[in-house]
Amino acid sequence: MKKEFSVMPDKLANEQFYGFNWFEHLTAVPSPLTLVTGYKLNGRSNGTMQSWLSFSSDNGSDFYCIFSYVCKYTHMYEIASKQKQLVINFPSADNYKKCYSTIANNSYEEDELEKAGLKFKKGTMVNAPVVEDCFLNLECEYVWEKEITPNSDHVVLCVKVVNVHVDEESLKNDRYGEKGFLYNIHSPLDPATLERKSTALGVITPYKTYEELF
Ligand SMILES: Cc1cc2nc3c(=O)[nH]c(=O)nc-3n(C[C@H](O)[C@H](O)[C@H](O)COP(=O)(O)O)c2cc1C
Repeated sequence: MKKEFSVMPDKLANEQFYGFNWFEHLTAVPSPLTLVTGYKLNGRSNGTMQSWLSFSSDNGSDFYCIFSYVCKYTHMYEIASKQKQLVINFPSADNYKKCYSTIANNSYEEDELEKAGLKFKKGTMVNAPVVEDCFLNLECEYVWEKEITPNSDHVVLCVKVVNVHVDEESLKNDRYGEKGFLYNIHSPLDPATLERKSTALGVITPYKTYEELF
């Protein structure tokens, strides 16, 4: 049986949601995990974990990433809005901890990617670091941003993909599974019990091709 929710149940009144809405945990839609990189204004490398994002084309003319929840107080936002160039890197299970460690080493003075032990080189088309440990890297240029609501401290940010690096191994059908894309399963809330589980890393297993399905 389906349950409907519009008002937060009393049982959740003392839960900590850390700036997220409880619907986020109730719906528990997984989102892709990325490490967004750029150079800070002092030239040192920066890494930011980003998970609230998706991709689209514009009638086939160009390919865009729409970040749906970028905090204005991050180095990433400063880099995106001032340098207008960044790289979206896709971690896999074997290097996720290194990518994640950029959060702990987040001072302006730090060369975050070096400190994390990640290998990187300057992009071909943009002045931002490409993380070699990651199997897919998208060099991007800033297009536009908009506050989610007026005066919000988060923006929706659109960037255009201008160059793609892809590890040939990952084309051998293991972009999915443990060597491939990771998903953020953000502390899902059980609709029956209203208990929350820990945040988890997800991988995708292809189910059936369209030929098999139809
Ligand atoms: C799994 C994960 C996903 C995240 N996704 C986002 C996101 O989509 N938007 C955002 O503003 N912060 C996100 N964060 C938080 C930033 O990564 C964090 O604030 C980071 O320290 C900012 O780094 P910076 O100041 O070097 O840009 C995420 C963190 C984690 C662990």
